[in-house]
Amino acid sequence: MLLEVIYIALKIMTIKKEIWLIDQCNNNPLNLIDLKIISKNKSFPDNIFSESNSKVYVFLNTLNGFSQLEFSYNLLWVGVKLNNFCKEGNYSIMNIKELNCYENLLLGWCLGEYTFDMYKSKKRKKLKKSLSNLTDKIRKKADAIFTVRDLINLPANLLGPNELYASVKNKYLRSFDKKILVKDEKLKKDFPLVFEVGKGSEKSKKPIFAEFSWIGKKKRNKKKKIILIGKGVTFDTGGLNLKTGSGMTLMKKDMGGAANCIGLSKMLVESKIDIDLRLMLPLVENSVSGKSMRPSDIFKSRKGIFVEVEDTDAEGRLILADVISYACESNPDLIIDMATLTGASRVALGTDVPSFFTNNEKIATNLIKCSLEVGDPIWQLPLWKNYTQQLNSNHADIKNLGGTFGGAITAALFLNMFVDKNIDWIHVDLMAWNLSKNLTSYIGGEAMGIRSLFRLIEKNYT
Ligand code: BES
Ligand code: ZN
Ligand code: ZN
Repeated sequence: MLLEVIYIALKIMTIKKEIWLIDQCNNNPLNLIDLKIISKNKSFPDNIFSESNSKVYVFLNTLNGFSQLEFSYNLLWVGVKLNNFCKEGNYSIMNIKELNCYENLLLGWCLGEYTFDMYKSKKRKKLKKSLSNLTDKIRKKADAIFTVRDLINLPANLLGPNELYASVKNKYLRSFDKKILVKDEKLKKDFPLVFEVGKGSEKSKKPIFAEFSWIGKKKRNKKKKIILIGKGVTFDTGGLNLKTGSGMTLMKKDMGGAANCIGLSKMLVESKIDIDLRLMLPLVENSVSGKSMRPSDIFKSRKGIFVEVEDTDAEGRLILADVISYACESNPDLIIDMATLTGASRVALGTDVPSFFTNNEKIATNLIKCSLEVGDPIWQLPLWKNYTQQLNSNHADIKNLGGTFGGAITAALFLNMFVDKNIDWIHVDLMAWNLSKNLTSYIGGEAMGIRSLFRLIEKNYT
């Protein structure tokens, strides 16, 4: 008797539950009349699922009005919601291969499992759900995104420059071949702007520069050299130009550029891509003390350009400048920097869509194409050189702040001054934080643009 009960329970547990995607071009089991009846009140994003006769229907037809990029992007959130909608059990999506950008739905399913509850005494119970369509490749992508989120969600008392370096070295990117750590006097000499931004912090949060290298193991002579640089401000108080309370609320995420570069590196390394990869991280806390840099201070950068600090809160471009100069010295095929650099980029594009700038129009076209292919938004803003004079300083070569308008552009133009003309460069200005409550209940650190960049590298640099 007991055995019989166990047998039946096991059988129920292993029965695959069917998920059907309903949309005009998808081959699905509902006839047109049923479709009309069931889908009558369905609308994205709140109400798009239906369950009957132990089948789950996903009404993708409610996403019909969207552009291709919006559709693919939203598929990811449909995946998240689908995971949350499904009860315990083993599921299988029956007609997924017919869907353009279906990987996003599967990736979304994986992301639906994300929690950051290390510091919650009462943890939410995890339900046992599986989806047979998942592949290792998708799981690895989700894992890289979890890394980005975890790193951003850790607050600055637990994750300062040192802890961030240690977690990359010992946990997230252990397979990197070479690690370099620069601090103290050597940092002052080799990366003066990184030192100056971070020098106001307490001893345990001292500024550092970290570099990791990894080379694809395939026997090919000419591998493309790609350098990723991530802004790693583990907390941005604004410095002596102190932020307001509300302006500071989210500033543990100011290492979101570094976190995204770490996530992208993880994706690249785990896919065993055949490139020569360098990850460079200037890691600092922008804090307030008697040792903090002051507005009007003038510093000589690594490149020799004298920079006047007009605003200590525009610190990201300072630390990136020296690392960009250093990166150019090794003559790479491509430099990508990622940074939570300006509020202005958020004003222009909102929080979901990172902006990007590049000195090579061909790369811009390629990246836009990749973004469309993988449904990961990233939007080009112009490197509008007529605004460069806004960075003129009265007493030094340049200052770290432009005028009232076009703040994301003047920040990018500032960085551009440290890029050698003949080296391809992409600058990404991102939010690195999920605010949008209508798509997901998850609020916190977020990976942005890295699936597009992964695609660009995979497609154009191998
Ligand atoms: N980390 C901020 C930028 C930021 C703020 C990104 C909010 C995302 C959300 C950066 O260091 C900063 O403070 N930038 C200032 C620059 C200003 C002083 C010219 C900004 O954009 O307000
Ligand atoms: Zn700042
Ligand atoms: Zn900042």
